[in-house]
Amino acid sequence: MHDQLSALLAKAAAEFPTLQARPEFEAAKARYVVPNGELTALMKQMGSVPKEQKPVVGKLINETKAQLTALLDAALARIGDSELAAQLGPAVDPTLPSPDIGPGTYHPLTLVREEMCRILRKVGFTVADGPEVESEYYCFDALNTPSDHPARDEKDTFYFPENARFGNVSKKTPEEKYLLRTHTSSVQIRTMLKGPPPIRIVSPGRVYRRDTSDATHSANFHQLECLYVDKNVTVRDLKALLDYIFASLLGKDTKTRFRPHYFGYTEPSFEVDLTATHLPKVKKPWIEIGGCGMVDPTVFEAVGYDPEVWSGYAFGMGLERLAMLLYGIDDIRYFYQNDVRFLKQFA
Ligand code: DAH
Repeated sequence: MHDQLSALLAKAAAEFPTLQARPEFEAAKARYVVPNGELTALMKQMGSVPKEQKPVVGKLINETKAQLTALLDAALARIGDSELAAQLGPAVDPTLPSPDIGPGTYHPLTLVREEMCRILRKVGFTVADGPEVESEYYCFDALNTPSDHPARDEKDTFYFPENARFGNVSKKTPEEKYLLRTHTSSVQIRTMLKGPPPIRIVSPGRVYRRDTSDATHSANFHQLECLYVDKNVTVRDLKALLDYIFASLLGKDTKTRFRPHYFGYTEPSFEVDLTATHLPKVKKPWIEIGGCGMVDPTVFEAVGYDPEVWSGYAFGMGLERLAMLLYGIDDIRYFYQNDVRFLKQFA
């Protein structure tokens, strides 16, 4: 019996390391352990072992069984490892140079954003940041947008469920809901609440609206917001700044015009159009580019600024629209598809 068990183990020890795949492994296992296996057959001989030898033989069988199980486990682990390795493919050495040709390039939206910030920094603006998750107060209430305003509708704005928590985004009241900001104008409020005027900030960033995607719409796009608060600021200053920005970005032949409009947070309010017929693909004489106006006194009151002392202007515009004009891009979806053939044109 002892010899038979040793021979069985020796055979298994030689065979198991050669097993390559799961079906082979299962077949080998069946030959040794399951009801018709060789070990099982030897165990059945226990009946004919003389009584006084039974403890010794029993111990031997148990030891053999344990060793056989260990051999099987090792074989299975090895097969599992090689299956995984086959799934993962050849090993990657992250220290090797990239196989891609050439270095990466900036995204066209990044290029326009950085150029706009550079233009604005030259005239004293600093870049301010704000959260993309906002609360109703900063996105709407403090900007004098009443609760029944269409922009606040569930159909237009992405709201979070009532129980959503964002520890790093402050709320004004516990009841108000979190949402994905619909415009960068919320940064105006967050900036003004941080300290007294004068203020001169530019804030580019991502905004979100429930829109069906097409050539000119995307549920997620980018805006650029500016806010200037000081004494004796006038519409003339606003117009002069917009003329300067667009001439710098799009060329000196670019002109702007204001059309009266309504925004709750500015009074008077305007929509800004520009004409840049020297640019390719600009077919219309005037193109709407953003909204602006003189900061409404109610907004100053919301942030604790005295509207009798302080005055200011604000404007906001879409970065995609600017990039489309500048580079002659006719479909907004190109910006988000990560197609290298598109992206590498902006190197
Ligand atoms: N928030 C507006 C929008 O998303 C744009 C805008 C209009 C921004 C007037 C302003 C402003 O700062 O004064 O359409």
